[in-house]
Amino acid sequence: MTEKREPIPFSGTHSSDDLNLYGAYQMLLPIWVEGEPAYVPENNSVLRCLQYLELKENSVRMDWGRYCWNNTKGCCEMEYRADAAGESIVGRACQVQATSGLEILQLPRGGRKHAR
Ligand code: FES
Repeated sequence: MTEKREPIPFSGTHSSDDLNLYGAYQMLLPIWVEGEPAYVPENNSVLRCLQYLELKENSVRMDWGRYCWNNTKGCCEMEYRADAAGESIVGRACQVQATSGLEILQLPRGGRKHAR
């Protein structure tokens, strides 16, 4: 059972790299990564959010050379659900938009949580 968390406003400034990668996000959305709580920028795919978590939080490690980023190879399939009450679904992390409460049940192949 995962507790409900709310989005939080982003109060910092965006670097040009941040803008290029994640856009001018204003909110950070609560998600779960294999049971661990995380916050990720709104209006981004799950794969992009995993990049954010690796670069900004050091909380995941992804084998970036595996991923095509363009929905052609199925290389980023993950198991997830929209929220704690949702059904488990297999989807492509480069296509699924991260939403508040989303739970990644199993990371794409080549991904793992990273102990901080
Ligand atoms: S990154 Fe290749 S299908 Fe998503």
